[in-house]
Amino acid sequence: MTRTLIAGGTVVNATGSSKADVLIDGETIAAVLAPGSTLLGFDVAAHVDRVIDAAGKYVIPGGVDAHTHMEMPFGGTFASDTFETGTRAAAWGGTTTIVDFVVQYPHERVLDRFAAWHEKADGSCAIDYGFHQILSDIQPESLTAMDELIAEGVTSFKLFMAYKGVFLSDDGQILRAFQKGASNGALMMMHAENGSVIDVLVEQAVAAGNTAPLHHGLTRPWQTEEEATHRAIMIADLTGAPLYIVHVSAKQAVEQIAAARDRGSNVFGETCPQYLYLSVEEQLGAPGFEGAKWVCSTPLRSRAEGHQDHMWQALRTNDLQMVSTDHCPFCMKGQKDLGLGDFSKIPNGIGSVEHRMDLLYQGVVEGRISLERWVEVTATTPARMFGMYGRKGVLQPGADGDVVVYDPKGRTSIGIGKTHHMNMDYSAWEGREIDGHVDTVLSRGKVIVDGGAYLGAKGDGVYVKRGLSQYLV
Ligand code: URP
Ligand code: ZN
Ligand code: ZN
Repeated sequence: MTRTLIAGGTVVNATGSSKADVLIDGETIAAVLAPGSTLLGFDVAAHVDRVIDAAGKYVIPGGVDAHTHMEMPFGGTFASDTFETGTRAAAWGGTTTIVDFVVQYPHERVLDRFAAWHEKADGSCAIDYGFHQILSDIQPESLTAMDELIAEGVTSFKLFMAYKGVFLSDDGQILRAFQKGASNGALMMMHAENGSVIDVLVEQAVAAGNTAPLHHGLTRPWQTEEEATHRAIMIADLTGAPLYIVHVSAKQAVEQIAAARDRGSNVFGETCPQYLYLSVEEQLGAPGFEGAKWVCSTPLRSRAEGHQDHMWQALRTNDLQMVSTDHCPFCMKGQKDLGLGDFSKIPNGIGSVEHRMDLLYQGVVEGRISLERWVEVTATTPARMFGMYGRKGVLQPGADGDVVVYDPKGRTSIGIGKTHHMNMDYSAWEGREIDGHVDTVLSRGKVIVDGGAYLGAKGDGVYVKRGLSQYLV
């Protein structure tokens, strides 16, 4: 068993930062020590196999990205990252755990889909992984499967209020699933957009010849997100189910979540880097077909309306609890271009799994969130929210040795041919110059990224059997 000491850095947990050394014994953190400590009279540094010098750097828990779609069958194609390529890219960016969505389409058996996801992911991942389950049509079998999946470590279930005939559950189906969640402790997740309204707006736009990517955003106005968020909260309220709203992009949706929380409800929300930085005006409205690069749902919002600033504020005040990527990459050639001449055929999704830690660190640099809040929203809360805390999301004795050495004085240039390891033919973040750099990444004690080299291997990652959410009272 390898013993590693990460020495001389500033250890940052959600609860505070201090100069400390981190001792990893095998796969697990054995101790967080005062710098240069002795243990039982022994000089620790002299009794380990490897010392990683972290002087002048932050030592943080590995990132936990709780919303990814590797190899997802969607929009007439498949998300372009496999579990192998996507998790390797995640590792490059300091993320050491993902939670991916098992997809169930109407008439499919939920447990068959769960088995299929294991088949795809097991032995392929570079980092540890867990699963959520997507439920589309809520068959009686789906409800019993929820109990069985909880025993398998799948303790959160995503439903959709949009994508009719593909994913959409009607309000009665949502009610049934939420009733089940209220009784078995599952965390219910919601894609909150009013799909019926959006479908008519899309049909009208295309009929009027408004077919450019910009119209993806214009046909999914914030009212459709606010309304669906409110409706989901009300159904959760009447069933008692805890509710987690995914990929929140509209400030009005945040206000619905905040109001529910102020009433004492177990309602939570995540946002994603694209909703903190990108906009309808600058990205979706780019000339020609360029805007397709940023077609995702919920859509990017207007900067003039102030949604992006509101997301940062909500992260700071805990109206939103965490940041995931909703990593769902598609190439421009052969995938996004399915929607040339009709924006509604552009596969929905953006790839960011590699850049979440860096992009959120800019919030620290710009004074929008504290250093500790950075760790909290990218690692600690995702771990707590989804039943992995203690093992993931914190640097403490007994936790997995998932550690990132982050250099605040380093620089990261994002773009194709630079720091791009995702299986996409473009970067949604092309040309961004980032303050900070992921220097070294350890996954359960193994160094998988160091000094610009990838040292991990396919299959390093193991399945994480999650417990119930630890964020609930
Ligand atoms: O556009 C998106 N978000 N694609 C992935 C599927 C989803 O709704 O999360
Ligand atoms: Zn969604
Ligand atoms: Zn998603």
